Amino acid sequence: MTGSDRVSYAAGFVDLDSEVGPLPLEVRGRFPDWLTGTLLRTGPAKFDVGATTVNHWFDGLAMLHRFSFAGGAVTYANRFLNSDSYREAAAKGALARGEFATDPCRTLFQRVAAVFSPQLTDNCNVNVDCFGGEIVALTETTLPVRFDAETLQTLGHYAARGDVGGMVSIAHPHHDAKRGCRFSYVVDLGRRSKYRLFAIPDDGSPERIVAEMPVEKPAYMHSFAMTERYLVLTEFPLVVDPLRLLLCAAPFIRNYRWDPEMGLRFHIFDKDTGQLVVSHVAEAAFAFHHVNAYEDGDEIVLDVITYDDASIIDQLYLSHLRAGETLAATGRLTRYWVPLAADTPVDSNVIADEMLELPRIDYDRVAARPYRYVWCTGRRAGGAFLDMILVFDIIAGETRAWSQDGCFPGEPVFVARPGSETEGDGVLLSVVLDARRGLSFLIVLDALTLEELARAECPHHIPFSFHGNYFPEPTQPAAS
Ligand code: CO
Repeated sequence: MTGSDRVSYAAGFVDLDSEVGPLPLEVRGRFPDWLTGTLLRTGPAKFDVGATTVNHWFDGLAMLHRFSFAGGAVTYANRFLNSDSYREAAAKGALARGEFATDPCRTLFQRVAAVFSPQLTDNCNVNVDCFGGEIVALTETTLPVRFDAETLQTLGHYAARGDVGGMVSIAHPHHDAKRGCRFSYVVDLGRRSKYRLFAIPDDGSPERIVAEMPVEKPAYMHSFAMTERYLVLTEFPLVVDPLRLLLCAAPFIRNYRWDPEMGLRFHIFDKDTGQLVVSHVAEAAFAFHHVNAYEDGDEIVLDVITYDDASIIDQLYLSHLRAGETLAATGRLTRYWVPLAADTPVDSNVIADEMLELPRIDYDRVAARPYRYVWCTGRRAGGAFLDMILVFDIIAGETRAWSQDGCFPGEPVFVARPGSETEGDGVLLSVVLDARRGLSFLIVLDALTLEELARAECPHHIPFSFHGNYFPEPTQPAAS
């Protein structure tokens, strides 16, 4: 093994303090002329707060990153998300609110006991989306934060127009172009806990509740699945006794227990009637990310990146990552066939048996429908962390990879070529850390060949982030 194969990825967990831009980046290669929108990303950027260090990757203070494309050129800017959590942490010199795995819930879940004094974290470091025409950063609470897509200025909390309640939510809503809304979900935690699916209309009209389901021990769910007619909650057996959260003895995720006896439960809800169509139990598994799902006759085909158990969460503690430890858990691309009838068992098959994460699809063309291509990050043989970009042709059973020694790419965001109807016709945008040089660059790859089209180097490293989205129109300043 040569040294070049063993460059530590730990540089991706070094704090970034500087805020720059917008400034033009030098481009090597050629960006497509049709690439005229903006990639907006969020991610943890500051892990050391005053004299304290957060426990977990998911707990770093959120920073927004913006890559804006026009005429073959690109500009870059970054700003910390000026959330309540950020301001309070700055003032206190330590985290002030409970995060995913840092600080007891005397902060995070105080709302359970005191509904009118929400102290939920609004450190939105997981994803960027558009709710009712407003660009928002998201985390896994019910406090999305609005920001100006041009200036990255924080504009305050997103004010829901309808009351959907809940405390815990997700940063992976689904967009339903036909119904003109996004679907998302919240959990009410308390003596009578409930899952609640709801819709966020694109036109800014009030959110409406789609379905509710009582639950004794709510599961930690990072995403869910959508087909043309159904919403599917995949309930992993990582569950919490809500009363433990009330006792506030441990940080949020530490209250959750892995209980494989419960199995993996699928709950299928009709989007239009809210009716629970059927529930199924399969063998226990854990996942963060659903890939896609669609109806096929009397069953739902549902693709997920699954782990044998929830130990991946433990491996993402900052102490392990800053030491450059090898991620031992393997997220496999797994297909489930979930029957719409109650008396038929769930079937499953592993499509790809290697470490994969951060999956994306050609969403606007194939979400909730039969599809062909999955893009994700993966771990090369002998690698310690996600160090390549992959495209799976799941119909032909073919795979292609992009990698460069010492480089660690983030989520590959697919951007469709305007006017084309062909799935996969477009490019991938990924922020890559060159760990040897301690710098990040944006790379543009042909989405199907993974051939490099261009790259543009940033003036600093960008700590490993989770998700972002490309907004094809030049973004309008949000109404404040
Ligand atoms: Co995610």
